[in-house]
Amino acid sequence: MPVITTIDDLKQIYRRRTPKMFYDYAESGSWTEQTFRENSSDFDQIRLRQRVAVDMSGRSTSSQMIGQDVAMPVALAPVGLTGMQCADGEIKAARAAEKFGVPFTLSTMSINSIEEVAEATTKPFWFQLYTMKDEDYVARLIQRAKDAKCSALVITLDLQILGQRHKDLKNGLSAPPKLTIPTMINLATKWRWGIGMLGAKRRNFGNIVGHVHGVSDTSQLGAWTAEQFDPSLDWSKIAKLKKMWGGKVILKGILDAEDAKMALKVGADAIIVSNHGGRQLGGARSSIRALPAILDAVGDKVEVHLDSGIRSGQDVLKAVAMGAKGTYIGRAFVYGLGAMGETGVTTALQVIQKELDITMALCGGRQISDLSRDMLLIPQDFEGKWQA
Ligand SMILES: Cc1cc2nc3c(=O)[nH]c(=O)nc-3n(C[C@H](O)[C@H](O)[C@H](O)COP(=O)(O)O)c2cc1C
Repeated sequence: MPVITTIDDLKQIYRRRTPKMFYDYAESGSWTEQTFRENSSDFDQIRLRQRVAVDMSGRSTSSQMIGQDVAMPVALAPVGLTGMQCADGEIKAARAAEKFGVPFTLSTMSINSIEEVAEATTKPFWFQLYTMKDEDYVARLIQRAKDAKCSALVITLDLQILGQRHKDLKNGLSAPPKLTIPTMINLATKWRWGIGMLGAKRRNFGNIVGHVHGVSDTSQLGAWTAEQFDPSLDWSKIAKLKKMWGGKVILKGILDAEDAKMALKVGADAIIVSNHGGRQLGGARSSIRALPAILDAVGDKVEVHLDSGIRSGQDVLKAVAMGAKGTYIGRAFVYGLGAMGETGVTTALQVIQKELDITMALCGGRQISDLSRDMLLIPQDFEGKWQA
């Protein structure tokens, strides 16, 4: 058993064990991948203030997100095709999150369905919605999430059309993979993944196949999703979706203070400052750079969360100390899942919690509510001077 001390350790194992097509799917940004890279490298520009002679006993990383107790201010982000990274991936990740005490968010584009994840867990999880043109289907999907007792609806706003990720096009990404010669050669070296997949509950999109007229297999699905994502989604439609759901709503994909104000107007319970992990608008700012202006605009009126680029507990601390009430990890948990299934997700969460805890202590904090901007050294020009 290798000694795992960082998220990158998990990534190295994940890379060896997972088919190239799915590794590349996760490990890509759109276009030149500038935003994907800067999401992480911008965290590195922020330094920490070391404080001493502060009583460090009785520490805790526990906190709350949208009024829910969390073991640390970190949720699992919605990740499509998680069940292709590892057999029954959504179920395994949801179980790991539940045992650890952090929220799990199920993607619309998951492999395991809402019902399968609900059956495999005991506490409510969150459901992420992509809006489709087929309004009946969206209404049924929302109803299914209600029936499964999901405790929040995360509506993703930054993917009405798909950002181009070159590798997915070159690899011919599909679920399950199409057996071309290069794919078969690659799969032959991934026996652990293959054996797992043979026993998987499902190998297609569980929230879609069988729930939409005319979609009975995944070969029709690619064309269906390209056609079906709703390019006309606007604030009035978001307000309608919120009403239809009737519970807590989190709006994901806000990167601009003006949009944050609109989210506030439609009554979001929380917003996620996010650029989809650099997978959509390549060339956009990193989330951590966008955070201060959004906090200045709406931070005292709505819970502000952040994702994109988080690879350590130090990154979590930086985001929370700047003012985010919670954070999400996407790739960091996928690496764990692809490396070692449920145990790997738990390991990823443990690594992050330990880094958060030790860093908090060495910065002179004992609990999450102690974290504040004056624990950080933020470069003076961090937000940058941009001409609109
Ligand atoms: C492989 C992959 C699939 C994703 N699928 C979805 C999705 O189905 N719905 C969604 O709202 N966001 C999706 N995202 C974006 C994540 O929810 C999250 O915003 C992003 O991963 C955060 O960046 P990080 O990976 O650097 O932590 C996906 C991200 C990745 C890496």
